[in-house]
Amino acid sequence: MKVILDFIALFFIAIYSYLEALVKLFIPEKRKSVSGDIVLITGSGHGIGQLTALEFAKLQSTLVLWDINKDGIEETAEQCRQLGAKAFTYVVDCSKRSEIYAAAEKVKTTIGDVDILINNAGVVFGVEFLQLQDHQIEKTFEVNILAHFWTTKSFLPAMMKKNCGHIATVASVCGHVGLTYLVDYCASKFGAVGFHECMTVELASLGKDGIKTTCLCPVFINTGFVQNPSTRLWPVLKTEQVVKSFVDGILTNKKMILVPSSVKSYLILSKFLPQRVISKLNKMQDVQFSTTLRSATKMD
Ligand SMILES: NC(=O)c1ccc[n+]([C@@H]2O[C@H](COP(=O)([O-])OP(=O)(O)OC[C@H]3O[C@@H](n4cnc5c(N)ncnc54)[C@H](O)[C@@H]3O)[C@@H](O)[C@H]2O)c1
Repeated sequence: MKVILDFIALFFIAIYSYLEALVKLFIPEKRKSVSGDIVLITGSGHGIGQLTALEFAKLQSTLVLWDINKDGIEETAEQCRQLGAKAFTYVVDCSKRSEIYAAAEKVKTTIGDVDILINNAGVVFGVEFLQLQDHQIEKTFEVNILAHFWTTKSFLPAMMKKNCGHIATVASVCGHVGLTYLVDYCASKFGAVGFHECMTVELASLGKDGIKTTCLCPVFINTGFVQNPSTRLWPVLKTEQVVKSFVDGILTNKKMILVPSSVKSYLILSKFLPQRVISKLNKMQDVQFSTTLRSATKMD
């Protein structure tokens, strides 16, 4: 009997959620205020991380900028200050747990508890599986997923105490579908999507509904992360466009942001299509890119 009642409740929750989504199509969602919030962004010396920092600076947040590239974060910080925001820089190699823990302690004692944590730093090698060197595979996992564990372990306890905060994960569409020459990268991004989904359900189970989570999954973007990207099915996105969706998503507590949003239909379809059709679609996509790793070594 209890199970039947649970299913009836589930049915009404589903109807309510669909109606709510319909209403939200016409009424713009309320954005939360982040003025004065401490926002920590890893990999904020360039690309998505840099532009995201500038958007939060416009909203008068306090920026804590982490990157392996000192010049990059100094430049981001200067631009944030010109927008009237406070900005602090830390040269941190996110592939090193000890560096993350040490920098996190400094942030907590000198600046304060982080309100919004954005795990964005990422690396990609983009070579055929058997040409991948062991140290490259390790680096991919250290930066693209393990770092998320170390930063979250550092900053979540204060959020838990206040039941307030936000953890944002920059993953990729590669966290939902596999692509040629990206075995380590896709596997790490599947990990990042999994991290986001599990954190979301665990926080809900613990009753910590004041701590929000957001995951960003774009297709290729013109940041230079990979060079000359092209696909026949998807556009190469402009960084500004992706960052606008990302920051909007954080301010409205959106859980999953796929850019472009049409990717969602492809992902749903790909769960049901026969493998032959998926292989053909992969060929049709004709994904092309080249890579040179940005900031492979620390520059301080
Ligand atoms: N550009 C794309 O096509 C694309 C698509 C989907 C997802 N993403 C994801 O977006 C995120 C940001 O990428 P981007 O396009 O802005 O790239 P980017 O190269 O412009 O910026 C990445 C930043 O991370 C920093 N970084 C690299 N290794 C680091 C380390 N060990 N420690 C600290 N910082 C480090 C770099 O110095 C750089 O400033 C990544 O996680 C990437 O996987 C990018």
